[in-house]
Amino acid sequence: MKAIVVTDQAAGTAGMKLAERPEPQAAINDVIVQIHASGFVPTELAWPSTWTDRRNRDRTPSIPGHELAGVVTALGYGTTGLSIGQRVFGLADWYRDGTLAEYVAIEARNLAPLPGDVDFTVGASLPISGLTAWQGLFEHGRLRAGQSVIAHGAAGAVGSMVTQLAHEAGAHVIGTGRAADRQKAIDFGAQEFVDLDSEALEDVGSVDLVFDVIGGAVGKRSARLIRAGGTLVSIVGPPEAPPVDGRAIDFVVESDRAQLGEIVQRVRDGRLRTHIGEVSTLDNAVAAFNPTVRRAGKTVIRVLPVARREPDKGTAGGARK
Ligand SMILES: NC(=O)c1ccc[n+]([C@@H]2O[C@H](COP(=O)([O-])OP(=O)(O)OC[C@H]3O[C@@H](n4cnc5c(N)ncnc54)[C@H](OP(=O)(O)O)[C@@H]3O)[C@@H](O)[C@H]2O)c1
Repeated sequence: MKAIVVTDQAAGTAGMKLAERPEPQAAINDVIVQIHASGFVPTELAWPSTWTDRRNRDRTPSIPGHELAGVVTALGYGTTGLSIGQRVFGLADWYRDGTLAEYVAIEARNLAPLPGDVDFTVGASLPISGLTAWQGLFEHGRLRAGQSVIAHGAAGAVGSMVTQLAHEAGAHVIGTGRAADRQKAIDFGAQEFVDLDSEALEDVGSVDLVFDVIGGAVGKRSARLIRAGGTLVSIVGPPEAPPVDGRAIDFVVESDRAQLGEIVQRVRDGRLRTHIGEVSTLDNAVAAFNPTVRRAGKTVIRVLPVARREPDKGTAGGARK
């Protein structure tokens, strides 16, 4: 099968190469998914799991990309809950070969059904940003209606989900980011916006929850704004300065079928919008991940061209290929 592989950790996204790789085999409780669309977070090339397995042994050449939408083509021994021909989306294991490929072997529990009226491209854009926002706000941040939230990077992949979900949950949302992103953040549901390059974050006063996707000095300044009993949720590593009288949590997103279902239902009924920038092919993926100009929105790789996709809706069966 065709896949994007990486072998050189120092090379970054420029080291990604299109290659021929063996098709994966389904292990116990796995499914094989024919990938229609794939999402990739550039920082995953800095994560140890891209380069080594759980016992710290070199696992290159490895296939990056951990978000997918596609169709189940085979079941592993003992796999239940999904069927051949089913449309699915989800989040692949960090330590296994990923989704910038024509097929992936993935544990069934990491996937959820993708409704027939949600496009594969949209499905592939949701798992990491949607689940991260959901888990950060509701599990780790214990957000309640009426609370105030700083959503850093509010126009970015995770931040735009944080902004929309917090707004829907009845929170007062203060988005942050670059000046050019002010209107986008407001469109996503932020009631206020702070341009971090030229406005003082401290002017927003104290808040119940900070969702930090930036870290460093921004994270440190944010910690000081958290009111007693509030929470700093970080997705960029342990906060350098935890809040004096509040909680600090850093976490890595996990797949969750029920939460994927909540997220995709919100997309279907228009409560949640995904922020897709460029859609490219697997052949052009390396160039798409090495842009020469700043791009807003998530880059999604359409692995199986739209014209060839089958089945588009429902649960039509069929053997692999
Ligand atoms: N722990 C986890 O489970 C988890 C899950 C998902 C993502 N992450 C991490 O979270 C981070 C954000 O991911 P993402 O996919 O949301 O990235 P993204 O789409 O690039 O969003 C980040 C947003 O923040 C803005 N921003 C960054 N630094 C800024 C600064 N100093 N001042 C003002 N605005 C700034 C960016 O603007 P510019 O584009 O102009 O910089 C962008 O709009 C990444 O480091 C990623 O690895 C962690």
